[in-house]
Amino acid sequence: MIALSLTEVARATGGSVVAPPGVDPDTLVVDGPVVTDSREAGPGGLYVARVGEHADGHDFVAGAVERGAVAALVTRPAEGVPCVVVADTQEAFAALAREVVRRVPGLAVVGITGSSGKTSTKDLLGTVLAAAGPTVAPVGSYNSEVGVPLTVCRVTPDTRFLVVEMGARGIGHIAYLTRMAPPRIGVVLNVGTAHMGEFGSREAIATAKSELVMALQPDGLAVLNADDRAVRAMASLTTARVVLVGEADDADVRAGDVVLDAGGRASFTLHTSGGMSEVHLGLVGRHHVGNALAVVAVALELGLSFESVRAALESARPVSRWRMEVVERPDGVTLVNDAYNANPDSMRAALTALERMGEGRRTWAVLGTMLELGVESDALHAEVGAEVVARGVDELVVVGPAAAALAAGARAALPSSGPGGGTHVREVPDAERAETLLDAELTAGDVVLFKSSRDAGLRLLGDRLAAPREELT
Ligand SMILES: Nc1ncnc2c1ncn2[C@@H]1O[C@H](COP(=O)(O)OP(=O)(O)OP(=O)(O)O)[C@@H](O)[C@H]1O
Ligand SMILES: [Mg+2]
Repeated sequence: MIALSLTEVARATGGSVVAPPGVDPDTLVVDGPVVTDSREAGPGGLYVARVGEHADGHDFVAGAVERGAVAALVTRPAEGVPCVVVADTQEAFAALAREVVRRVPGLAVVGITGSSGKTSTKDLLGTVLAAAGPTVAPVGSYNSEVGVPLTVCRVTPDTRFLVVEMGARGIGHIAYLTRMAPPRIGVVLNVGTAHMGEFGSREAIATAKSELVMALQPDGLAVLNADDRAVRAMASLTTARVVLVGEADDADVRAGDVVLDAGGRASFTLHTSGGMSEVHLGLVGRHHVGNALAVVAVALELGLSFESVRAALESARPVSRWRMEVVERPDGVTLVNDAYNANPDSMRAALTALERMGEGRRTWAVLGTMLELGVESDALHAEVGAEVVARGVDELVVVGPAAAALAAGARAALPSSGPGGGTHVREVPDAERAETLLDAELTAGDVVLFKSSRDAGLRLLGDRLAAPREELT
């Protein structure tokens, strides 16, 4: 973090200092990591004691201090530890983040939201911007009221670019995050069906995402997906300038002639007002085209040259794990581990890649449950099942009873007669059974996609199967 004295932390958070005798809060400086997990504490750091559902962070203050934290942000003081005592640690943490941004005047803050692709896009943008200057981007998928301030507090005085992933499970969530990290640039990728259960409707999801562009100042920039009607419509909700990105003819940053190679990687012609060029992405999946266009728009706005952005896009490789992670086994089996998360839109994106990668090869889709889809859940699972069949996937393995509707949807979509036989549909109760089945049946040349919502079982199954299987022929 930027260096702040304990007194300054107290002032920023509206708290009061409670420190052991002999500690001067004006000279005690916090300049190390700001953490909510005491195991991640380090020298010079600040430990934020959150009270969660399962644990009370106040129980771990001592552990944080042992690892080098010099102070704690708490609702009740800890014996012998310099503390800032506040009424609500969440609100105080948000205020601290806000203060950090305020104290680095030249910092360019970029907020990214959307139903799918936030992490993929922030990884790509983080990589591209890092080539131009010191950049802070979230670890993993840190996009909540905790993940955002954790990210913001990693800013140091020399940071030029701050990339913030902004997630929402309800109205007002993104507005809250924009108050902690007021963005100069806001990117809205798409409005899909993720978290439909909490939101109730697509309109509500659009409203939630639009809070990002409504938070922009007139000298800011909204980067909007021209190919998504609900996102495009947000242009009228912001006073900031708007750049449209997509494949639509009127997009300011546009991809034309998109093709996928046999590895599922996209190439396209990039059109911008500053130039035109072929781009070959190193990331797997057509959906990265839209993500890459958003990255181009942001990077050009921040002063990077067209050529440096193009080069950085091409050299970018996956950063966060389990997102279209491709492993080529020595025995000729290709595994695509996209099991970090799933919703109907990202399922379709992954199946598109599988279809392309599987040309002339046997394809497998090992799919689990999509969570948080509310009353539409069964119908949306069934649609994905039908999509699996429509894409000509050879083997569908549905994992877990909660995904049964996906198998049913696939069976219902199978042609009742004719050559080819369509997709072979099987259901297994868990990842272990899926492993047994795959171990017994995978043969050289097969392509296997793993996808599910936050299912550690499927992710790790993909990881286990990635170990070489020499015995296969
Ligand atoms: N633009 C996109 N459209 C559809 N699917 C996408 C897009 N970008 C990435 N995906 C796929 O969506 C899934 C989630 O990607 P990612 O983790 O980047 O999204 P996220 O928005 O950060 O999700 P979360 O809400 O879990 O943080 C992955 O399977 C990824 O391959
Ligand atoms: Mg994410």
